[in-house]
Amino acid sequence: MLTVDTVSSLRALVARARGENKKVALVPTMGNLHDGHISLIHCAKQRADFVVASIFVNPLQFGANEDLANYPRTPDADREKLVNAGCDVLFAPAVEQIYPDGMLNQAIVSVPNVSEGLCGAIRLGHFDGMATVVTKLLNIVQPDVAVFGEKDYQQLAVVRSMVRDLNMVTDVVGAPTIRAADGLALSSRNVYLSDHERSVAPVLYACLKQTAASIQAEGRVTERQLIECHQRISDAGFQLEYFEVRNAQDLKPLTSSDTHFVILVAARIGKTRLIDNLTVDLRPSKRSPEEQHP
Ligand code: PAF
Repeated sequence: MLTVDTVSSLRALVARARGENKKVALVPTMGNLHDGHISLIHCAKQRADFVVASIFVNPLQFGANEDLANYPRTPDADREKLVNAGCDVLFAPAVEQIYPDGMLNQAIVSVPNVSEGLCGAIRLGHFDGMATVVTKLLNIVQPDVAVFGEKDYQQLAVVRSMVRDLNMVTDVVGAPTIRAADGLALSSRNVYLSDHERSVAPVLYACLKQTAASIQAEGRVTERQLIECHQRISDAGFQLEYFEVRNAQDLKPLTSSDTHFVILVAARIGKTRLIDNLTVDLRPSKRSPEEQHP
């Protein structure tokens, strides 16, 4: 695996791969790689011949009171994991390479509707910063395929919407969430959890599953299903930001005709903010949530 830190050297490598008629995939990350990220590399390798991973802790998507300075950075371990996963190129630029004129002089990509509400209402400016850096990465690499984790469900919806709106040529692929044995979704931020916090954290997935099973059984979403989980999550010691069911495609609030749902949760425990989600598809001929999320 080659590691490059400049846009021009990355472009040269991608051009060479293109010259060899290779299909190119991009896996954007912020590093501190875990099995969830590695599953994105595997997904990319199934769809392309030349896989580029990026590691860039993007300051533009962090709010003033967020964890930019402390965000876990593990470059040596990350490189080893990418080599073992069969990644072809690691792009690990410095901030100046991505924002040469500074972040204040940077054109910003803002995706309406799907960026608003949920995390967008709490992490103000986050999705603009994320969409801006993803646009840059997609323009630098111009990949055939870009792979994102379904764990960041709203992020994936924002990227899909942006790619559609801006006529970008890349095919955006969502890869399933990878979980610990007790159900906790793998996340770089899990390293912040104390032993006690880690022991109660699986309540989030348990509540998603409880609600999914209830929606399946009742054929609809009810206020009671949500209130039960609000209580259960608070009782476990979390400060709940949201536990909501939305339309799985556009994340809009539900209407009576919706049959494809996503249950989304964001909650804080101690200094850690965790998010997770689970889809429920009641459209005829669709599989149960357990089959969708083994
Ligand atoms: O999901 C992430 O790790 C980041 O938001 C991304 C997509 C790499 C953009 O910085």
